[in-house]
Amino acid sequence: MTFKKFLPQKFTNRIILLIGFLGVITAAVNTSFTIYTNYKNTYEKVFNSIEIQYDIFADDFAEAMLLEDIYSIYSEVNEINKSFGFISNIYVLDAKGEYFTDANATRKIPDNISEDITVNKAIKAGETTIGKIIFVLNKNEIQKGIFSDVSRLVFVNIFIVIMGVLLGIVLARFLSNPLKQLSYQISNINPLKIPEELHTPAFSSYEVEQLKNTLHDLSYRLKESISQIKQQQREINKAERLASIGTMAAGLAHELKNPIMSLKLISDALQKEYADRDFNLKKDMEMISRQSDRLVKRINTFLAYAKPIESKIIEINIPEFVKYLKDLFSKYMDNVYIEYNYHSTENFKTDAEMLAQVLENLVQNSYEAGAENITISFYFENNRFIIKYFDNGTGLETSDKNEIFRPFFTTKESGTGLGLAMCEKILENLGGSISVIDTNCGAGFFIEINLNGL
Ligand SMILES: Nc1ncnc2c1ncn2[C@@H]1O[C@H](COP(=O)(O)OP(=O)(O)OP(=O)(O)O)[C@@H](O)[C@H]1O
Ligand SMILES: [Mg+2]
Repeated sequence: MTFKKFLPQKFTNRIILLIGFLGVITAAVNTSFTIYTNYKNTYEKVFNSIEIQYDIFADDFAEAMLLEDIYSIYSEVNEINKSFGFISNIYVLDAKGEYFTDANATRKIPDNISEDITVNKAIKAGETTIGKIIFVLNKNEIQKGIFSDVSRLVFVNIFIVIMGVLLGIVLARFLSNPLKQLSYQISNINPLKIPEELHTPAFSSYEVEQLKNTLHDLSYRLKESISQIKQQQREINKAERLASIGTMAAGLAHELKNPIMSLKLISDALQKEYADRDFNLKKDMEMISRQSDRLVKRINTFLAYAKPIESKIIEINIPEFVKYLKDLFSKYMDNVYIEYNYHSTENFKTDAEMLAQVLENLVQNSYEAGAENITISFYFENNRFIIKYFDNGTGLETSDKNEIFRPFFTTKESGTGLGLAMCEKILENLGGSISVIDTNCGAGFFIEINLNGL
């Protein structure tokens, strides 16, 4: 852009340019207007003066012309000419247009008097024209009159422009100094010391104060973001460490399974061989075999928890899902009564198998907590699939409520403490969550799955 090319970079220079520009424009308009008014006034004055002189002497001229009294006419025009500097000569012509006399006694009319510097008046006796007066104007003198004040005006204008520019410099400094100081402070901010107090000098304008406040605000937010990033960094480091420990542990668990299985096979063989001979040995071997089974089961649970979940999303509706659950929970039928509540039959997408595993873990816990009744309600709300789960078992200890989803937290002698942790992991994978519902008796859980995510 051409305009941008001429715009100075610095704020101070911009203000000076603006004031200078305005000053020059004002001076130009001012001077032109004065010249125009002077011009009009001067010419008006000249014409009026000639008119008045003519009115005064018209009759005298006429009389003198009739008497051919050259001397009287000459002395009058000479008088007029002397009194008015803007008249350079006055010619008087007779009725035939011949030279009669003139104010400067030149005795002849110049060949070419330009019409624009003459004012002609007729000398009349009654209705008859008996002569003519030509007032020749002194252009130089008139122009002097027009421009006499202008030079003073131009001088005053130049003075005002210079004063304006000087004032502009002071004003611009006054405005730009707080900004300069602020930017100096910002450029010297130590990132380790954020938030830093910024100061604006006295007499800073409202806008500069606002800018300072905004920068303060930013500085505080920056501090928060930095501490958040640091916190996240720590969490990432921790997660990475845990992940590598998890991978190692999973590998180790896998390695342990084979020797345990060998132990179990040997103890089973010894059990059979010494079944009739040594009763105590048989009992010990049985114990080894049982404990090996338990160990392998725990290792399998742990490996299942450590393994990444592979989702199999299918389209299903609640009645179909409940039917699937009923088959799955048939093994608990003798001990626990499960009630299913739902109204909707609409289809939705989820990993039904994994969701069933979540509910199986809950049912297993309820069974282990001595529950006889379980109620599971299903419904949709704001594109979320909600499950509310209640049992009438021993219930959760208040102090345990925050712990139960933590891996390996268990209150059971034979528990691994991975059931609910697994539930949480599966639900997170499905874009959902699980939480405890406070109840007066038994335990309650709230599960929600965001259906938008699938
Ligand atoms: N329905 C429930 N009623 C009472 N306590 C419960 C219930 N569900 C969970 N808990 C408590 O939460 C703990 C953690 O449960 P979680 O299923 O994670 O592990 P676990 O059942 O102890 O072991 P695992 O499921 O691995 O065999 C349980 O030990 C138990 O104290
Ligand atoms: Mg459990």
